[in-house]
Amino acid sequence: MKKTFAGITLVTLAVLPFAAHAQFAKPEDAVKYRKAAFTLMGAHMGRIGAVVKGDKAYDKAAVEQDAAIVEMMSKLPFTAFTPGSDTADSKAKPEIWKEQDKFKAAAEKMQGEVQKLSAAAKAGDLNLVKASFGAVGQSCKACHDSYRNK
Ligand code: HEC
Repeated sequence: MKKTFAGITLVTLAVLPFAAHAQFAKPEDAVKYRKAAFTLMGAHMGRIGAVVKGDKAYDKAAVEQDAAIVEMMSKLPFTAFTPGSDTADSKAKPEIWKEQDKFKAAAEKMQGEVQKLSAAAKAGDLNLVKASFGAVGQSCKACHDSYRNK
C-alpha cells in the first residue's frame, strides 16, 4: 500500500509539468479541479495542524500520510490556472495571469516548504514537523494575501 502510494506520487510528478493546460474543456472545469486540490491540501494540513497544536496525539504514521497527501496535492492546483479561468465562482485574482512569474515563484516556495514538512514527518521528528508546518502555513498565506480574493 505504502509502496503503491509512493509510486503514484512519482508518476504524478513526472507526468504533470507546471502548466498542463489541455486537460480542461471549460474554464469552470479548471476552477473545480484546482479548488478540489486546494480543499484536500487544506484538509490534510488541518489534520497535521491539530497535532501541532496539541489537540490530537502525535501518531507518526498518520502525520506521515497526511504530509504525503499534502505534498502530492501541492503539485496539482497550478496546472489548472488556465487562461480565462478567473470566473465568477473563483476567488483567483486577475493578477495571477498578469504576474505569472511571481505566482509561480509563490507556488514553488510553498511546494519546497511542503517537501520539508514531508521529510520531517518521515523522519518522525515532531519538533521539525512543527517548525516546517509553520513555514508551510506562511507560504500558503503569502500567496493568498496577494492572489486570492477574500
Ligand atoms: C501560489 C499561490 C497559492 C499557494 C501557495 C496556496 N494557495 Fe490556496 N489558493 C490560491 C488561490 C488563487 C485560491 C483561489 C482558487 C479559486 O477560487 O479559483 C486558493 C484557494 C484555496 C482554498 C479554497 C478552495 C475552495 O474550495 O474555494 C484552500 C482551502 C486553500 N487555497 C488552501 C491552501 C493551503 C492549505 C495552502 C498551503 C499548503 C495553499 N492554499 C497555498 C492560491 C494559493
